[in-house]
Amino acid sequence: LFAEVAGAPEDPILGVGQQYKADPRAEKVNLSVGVYQTEEGKIPVLRAVREAETRLYNAAAPHGYGQISGNPALGAFVQELLFGKDSEVVRSRRACTVQSLGGTGAIKLAADLLHFVVGKTKAATSVPTWGNHNAIFKQAGFDVSHYQYYNKADGTIAFEQLLADLRAKEAGTVVILHACCHNPTGLDFTADQWKEVLQIVIDRGLVPLLDIAYQGFDRGLEEDAFSIRLFAESGISFLVSSSFSKSFSLYGERVGGLTVVCQNADEAARVLSQVKQMARANYSNPPNYGASLVATVAGDPVLRAQWEEELGEMRARIRSMRVALKNAMDAEGSPRDFSFVTAQDGMFSFTGFTPEQVERLKKEYGIYAVANGRICIAGLNNHNVQYVAKAFTAVQKN
Ligand code: LMR
Repeated sequence: LFAEVAGAPEDPILGVGQQYKADPRAEKVNLSVGVYQTEEGKIPVLRAVREAETRLYNAAAPHGYGQISGNPALGAFVQELLFGKDSEVVRSRRACTVQSLGGTGAIKLAADLLHFVVGKTKAATSVPTWGNHNAIFKQAGFDVSHYQYYNKADGTIAFEQLLADLRAKEAGTVVILHACCHNPTGLDFTADQWKEVLQIVIDRGLVPLLDIAYQGFDRGLEEDAFSIRLFAESGISFLVSSSFSKSFSLYGERVGGLTVVCQNADEAARVLSQVKQMARANYSNPPNYGASLVATVAGDPVLRAQWEEELGEMRARIRSMRVALKNAMDAEGSPRDFSFVTAQDGMFSFTGFTPEQVERLKKEYGIYAVANGRICIAGLNNHNVQYVAKAFTAVQKN
């Protein structure tokens, strides 16, 4: 039966993380997967989450099935984070949210909804993008094209080209946009640029899916939702994929949400019924545990304030490591100015390293990055940044 099945390649991101784990070298550094690590190189258990875990443990609730659409308190929290308290979208109930298996699961539900229910066939992703955007939309049956995002020559957003590319898309094309902390470039639109993009979306009749996997990792929870709120205010229909992997450090618990913003409450209810049917046919209903943790934190003002503080600490540490890397590169005499690292936002930096240089970093130094040159700044700390800068400088020189 399977004799002719060809092996598939390793995942370009998660596969690198596995290689890192298998590396016996003590000095190894993991800058591959988008996972926040502490100064000690550990994935944190947030204090607010720890307390929520204790409460859930003490409640000893039975492990019954949840709803197909997931934890309703989680859904309400997702909408509050996206649209703000007292937003028109929430009040009018013209958006529905379904708990998903992380941000990835939300994108897959979105792709399936748009293809199998709404009949969309074309999608467009940024160049570069998070590779799974392409994979998910292709798997859902889309013809995936692209729009230029990055200007390699000067390390900026190729904005004019991007606008031209978007303008050239056929009406009805699903356009996947990174709401903040663009993965992998770390370059985000300004407020004015978002307005221009929105105008093209409206003029050309494009269908936006805003991926917000890193809310809170750029400037703050409110600030990072700027694009979502701008799109909501415009009155158009669109979709949003949210993730709590990074913001709650709950990676393996797979907590996320798909939000579909519709024209009115009736439409939202019908869309919800369709998404539920897809969820049921895929995985029946989502896991309870991670969503209960998030909902517990969200529902307690003390825990919620603590979580926001911890999110702020993660954000600040990443910023400080950007500066530390830039300074260490200067001290090592890097042939290339690394100031760009401090200008980028979110967890990632797009270094411009070639696949060969990335391979050398792995082989010679045990430093793991993604082949496209993306590094996860959150994997740096004051113990390894000098070592990393030394290696980065060496692979540039010879
Ligand atoms: C990443 O980009 O590294 C993360 O979003 C993890 C993943 O699933 O790829």
